[in-house]
Amino acid sequence: MIYLDNAATSFPKPESVYRSVDEAARWSGNPGRSGHALARRAEREIEATRVRVARFFNAPSPERVIFTLNATDALNMALKGFLQPGDHVVTSCLEHNSVSRPLAALAQRGVTFTKTGCDGEGKVDVEALAAAITPRTRLVVLTWASNVCGTVQPVPEVAEVCRRHRVKLLVDAAQAAGHVPIDVQATGVDMLACSGHKGLLGPPGTGLLLLGADVDVSPLREGGTGVASHLASQPDSYPQRLESGTPNTVGIAGLGAALDFLVQVGIERVFEHERQLIGALWEGLAAVPSVRDCGPSGPDGRVSLLSFNLEGWDPIEVATVLDQSFGICCRAGLHCAPWAHQALGTFPAGTVRFSVSYFNTLDDVEQAVQAVRALAAAGRR
Ligand SMILES: Cc1ncc(COP(=O)(O)O)c(C=O)c1O
Repeated sequence: MIYLDNAATSFPKPESVYRSVDEAARWSGNPGRSGHALARRAEREIEATRVRVARFFNAPSPERVIFTLNATDALNMALKGFLQPGDHVVTSCLEHNSVSRPLAALAQRGVTFTKTGCDGEGKVDVEALAAAITPRTRLVVLTWASNVCGTVQPVPEVAEVCRRHRVKLLVDAAQAAGHVPIDVQATGVDMLACSGHKGLLGPPGTGLLLLGADVDVSPLREGGTGVASHLASQPDSYPQRLESGTPNTVGIAGLGAALDFLVQVGIERVFEHERQLIGALWEGLAAVPSVRDCGPSGPDGRVSLLSFNLEGWDPIEVATVLDQSFGICCRAGLHCAPWAHQALGTFPAGTVRFSVSYFNTLDDVEQAVQAVRALAAAGRR
């Protein structure tokens, strides 16, 4: 089997992640709730992972690292906990449903938003985005990299625009975290949401929300925090303000091991390896006349994914044949991002998406190209 669906969730995970999950399942008490050994151990592991996350992204402090279920959970927390009726948001046409649907829900509660466009290579127009900011705008929400075409967005420039207009910036780094180096403080990102189970190579059920030092987010849910239990309302201090109930100790322990792995390998090396794989994929597919690639017009300027269509084939059909006849796992359709397909001209059928990880090899991508070539030849018959 060749797994090229890492943008959905990464597979395999580093061996140390499997080990860590297995061990944690055997020792995990309820952190912060009791004083006994298992509870203390769970708390230690969770706080150690929080510190690792803060270091990995250069977040202002570990307390401002919030563990979530996934990127969707983190984005919902940020959008619904930060925005109030009357606020205006600027966003882009490249956003995933985990941004566009919460915004649609918030629009029912008096929040307005403007969706700005992108060029033919899937890059947002920074000037158009700046021009869409009004005196009511409190937030810009932008994906770091499109999950449809992979295009890396000009986040530092957008952050500069936000700083000039005194507007906060929320970045959806679901497709960037673990693939490209991210320094939230140097970039000027106020809130960053990402999955733990994609490029960060952690287990499913993990995600992160990183908050800037001067951002306040109201909780989506209130409940037990293990601290300040005498208070009638949710504590104001982070991370407890946003973390209620028993956490995913096992998943968080696995995420900690995954971050250690990424630090040990080095994010630059991960990036370079994935760039080489995507370069080979892009070149191989570009040589197939009936392949229509979307996104940047070359191998660069994208994260570790690539979307395409094969003339005469439905994308779902391509993915099904790749799976059943070639043992290649990929994803096809709208990738939960209908806005992006509308902007890129691939709506409503969508595209076929190949996405790689550090564990893929050049041989994997060569076999994928050969399979697409075989399908293209069959299509012409
Ligand atoms: C750009 C983008 N944002 C958000 C998400 C949601 O991620 P999760 O599945 O961790 O909720 C995805 C998932 O594919 C994504 O690609």
